[in-house]
Amino acid sequence: MYQGLQHLHSYLAYAVLLGLVISFVSALLGLFGGKQYTNADRKRSLLGLIPTHLQWVFGLILYFVSPLGMESASGEAMKNSVSRLYFLEHPLMMVLAVILITVGYSRAKRQIGTNQGFKSIAIFYGLGLVLILSRIPWNAWPGN
Ligand code: HEM
Ligand code: HEM
Repeated sequence: MYQGLQHLHSYLAYAVLLGLVISFVSALLGLFGGKQYTNADRKRSLLGLIPTHLQWVFGLILYFVSPLGMESASGEAMKNSVSRLYFLEHPLMMVLAVILITVGYSRAKRQIGTNQGFKSIAIFYGLGLVLILSRIPWNAWPGN
């Protein structure tokens, strides 16, 4: 169970990053190209949203089964930057990123037919992406 989830979470991270980058870049092109955000663009934004939502559900379960998750939380672990990343910073920042990305998707959905939809995706997905990149355990991923 633990190993399977760990691998899933590790592989799905590629889809999350790729989906978010594609959505973000298309949003920038639409925004600066002065185009209208259409239903087809909304579907493209799902490329970023769906892997991110899946990842957060798997990440949450992983948090309770991984020895690096809740189990390792302690005052001692707080003093170690690697264990603090896994039990505190990574989960917290990722949840924040997921919320931002969902708010962006949700706002843009209500802005179909305007250029503003692209702005919502660009800002919220962009911020989410930065938070995610800032707290990926780069020492362990993509593997060595
Ligand atoms: C949504 C964006 C997220 C991304 C892109 C992401 C990405 C990653 C990556 C790349 C790793 C390292 C995997 C490896 O060692 O090969 C990892 C580990 C981990 N993540 Fe996430 N994660 C996300 C969300 C979450 C959330 C929301 C939680 C918990 C609430 C979480 C909990 C964990 C835990 C506990 C580990 C350590 C697993 C272990 O090696 O035992 N992640 N994550
Ligand atoms: C298996 C996991 C999940 C998948 C595949 C998934 C997929 C999706 C999809 C496709 C949408 C877009 C729906 C639309 O077009 O309106 C969406 C929206 C959303 N999801 Fe998830 N989701 C998952 C888990 C979750 C969980 C666990 C939560 C919250 C606890 C959540 C909260 C939301 C919210 C708040 C929206 C925004 C609705 C909106 O305003 O459009 N999702 N999700």
